[in-house]
Amino acid sequence: MNLYNEVEMDRPILHHFPEKGLLNDPNGLIEWNGEYHVFYQLNPYDTTHKNKCWGHSTSTDLLHWKRCSYALEPNSWFDKDGCYSGSAIVYKEKMYLYYTGNVLDEFGKRESYQCLATSSDGETFEKHGPVIKEISGYTAHVRDPKVWQESENEWKMILGAQRLNKTGCTLIFRSINLFDWEFLGELETGIKNFGYMWECPDLISNKKNSLLIFSPQGLDAKELEFQNIHQSGYLIGEYHSDIIFDSKTTFSELDRGFEFYAPQTFIDKNDRVIMYAWLGVMEADVERNLPSVKEGWAHILSLPRELKVIDDKLYQYPVSELKKLRGIKRNLDYSQNTPIDLGSVANEIKFELLSEEKDLEIDFYGDIRLKWDSNSRLLSISRTNWFSQVRETRSVKLINSLQEFTCYFDNSSLELFVNKGEEVFSMRMYHENIVPKIQIIEGHTSIKRVVNYSLEYK
Ligand code: FRU
Repeated sequence: MNLYNEVEMDRPILHHFPEKGLLNDPNGLIEWNGEYHVFYQLNPYDTTHKNKCWGHSTSTDLLHWKRCSYALEPNSWFDKDGCYSGSAIVYKEKMYLYYTGNVLDEFGKRESYQCLATSSDGETFEKHGPVIKEISGYTAHVRDPKVWQESENEWKMILGAQRLNKTGCTLIFRSINLFDWEFLGELETGIKNFGYMWECPDLISNKKNSLLIFSPQGLDAKELEFQNIHQSGYLIGEYHSDIIFDSKTTFSELDRGFEFYAPQTFIDKNDRVIMYAWLGVMEADVERNLPSVKEGWAHILSLPRELKVIDDKLYQYPVSELKKLRGIKRNLDYSQNTPIDLGSVANEIKFELLSEEKDLEIDFYGDIRLKWDSNSRLLSISRTNWFSQVRETRSVKLINSLQEFTCYFDNSSLELFVNKGEEVFSMRMYHENIVPKIQIIEGHTSIKRVVNYSLEYK
């Protein structure tokens, strides 16, 4: 059984995936009347990036999900070429969805409208059309409204945008009635020339410890950073005076792995900041050759992560609800260098290390290699690309030594949380005959304990 109660080969057990078609960004995340709503970009017809609807799933426990009918379909003049990404808020017993209507004219020229749809029952949505039309001073690449309530009768919206000089930025709007939006200006972050477009911005406004998340496109790869086609990262700072974000940090990537992109957060009734992302973004030819495309579907969402800022550093950890899926517990015997069978496709494996600094190398599922170099403090993960067959590596330099890490394997994905969420690596993984097993190649004397839980829906 999996999170949708569907039993099918090759499907993830723990992750949101489309029944058919292509899924991308998480949208409209919200908890309302005891129910979690996850919407997502969905082309229900095929695995191309066309016909974007809002897929919709609900859950009362963040674990078991029900598929609902599409919330939004691109069938109006203002969204005819795609109901693009956006967000949700609740006010006076109504859900408000803000999204971007993507429109292409007969010559392929783009128009973007920021649109509103409302719902009283959380199932059916009434479109109200554009609330923001073109914005002068910016190209038509303006999208992905994220709305939040700033004070009792004031809401703010942040939009991803592109300046006329083809550099990325975000724009801030204000509303006192949720329909009329006043343009306040560009959010000043101190970052000037950083990619050609910023997508999916998210501002978690919390006075001195605010978090600005965005997905810049067009960054040049550096030695270890910005290795993927597009990146997603964050700044921690103080948000004030409507358009000032005084950053205390430089831009850091949220995830050090391969496909993580377009994250969105929401705040639940217990004040947790919970984030989902798309797993994810990849080159077009790699995407076309995803093994699941032959079965008519593509992509998954990440596991939901809780975000916490502690001493100007962001920590991410899977929501604690996932512990309820733990099945059989085993202390793995890592004393031998021989493969250890896990016996299940969905697994949580926690490695605790001894404090002495030693190198470590572990093989996962016969293809993925984790390497810790204690001298350089470089933690790397590599895999064989399912399309090019080339080995590819992502690395991060840890601030301290490697103390512990937890892996969540779910058939064709891995999310690896390092040092209590100080860094995360996410990735899709596909290779012939996946075998759930691990093998310590080097460094078993530096391991204190390896605990494995199978993850199961009961
Ligand atoms: C990010 C993105 C968004 C856009 C959506 C379209 O992946 O490009 O900017 O709204 O996907 O599906």
